Amino acid sequence: MGERIEVLVPEEEVNARIRALGEQISRDYAGKQIHLVCVLKGGSFFMCELAKRITVPVSLDFMSVSSYGGETKSSGVVRIVKDLDEPIQDKEVLIVEDIVDSGRTLSYLMEMLRDRKPKSLRLCTLLDKPDRRVVPVEVNYTGFQIPDAFVVGYGLDYDQRYRNLPYIGVVRFD
Ligand code: IMP
Ligand code: MG
Repeated sequence: MGERIEVLVPEEEVNARIRALGEQISRDYAGKQIHLVCVLKGGSFFMCELAKRITVPVSLDFMSVSSYGGETKSSGVVRIVKDLDEPIQDKEVLIVEDIVDSGRTLSYLMEMLRDRKPKSLRLCTLLDKPDRRVVPVEVNYTGFQIPDAFVVGYGLDYDQRYRNLPYIGVVRFD
């Protein structure tokens, strides 16, 4: 079965939107320091680009949870594969994710991080598929709302491939 990638959001549009998000976040957190928490691996490309556009002081940490295998459907199982290196108590935490789909991963993660008593806890996602939501999640910053399609690129994978595409694409099976 052949696969091809159809461009959904071109590179220039992704970069322009990330620049705008960085400006908005910098304004919202004026006078504060932001602790960016990247959800690996998908959030990594977005986090790097976003961090470069934020003008207030920033520190970074990474965590990894598993919710998908090689499939395109959510298993509903969320497991911490790698926890944060640093405590987040009293920090202004901004979670950086690639995509909110069913919302299962993020609702679990936010609940877990909230227990660690950050000063604030917000969520920034590059992509949101609102039509797919099963569990409600409050998203504070969204790059793009997209329709229900399986997307890749800019950190997002299909069976671990295509993360390095500099644009957002939809996987089509011929
Ligand atoms: P959720 O728990 O269903 O919201 O799924 C969140 C995770 O599923 C994301 O962080 C992605 O890793 C993965 N995911 C959801 N939709 C897509 C997609 O369209 N392409 C690639 N990965 C996806
Ligand atoms: Mg992810």
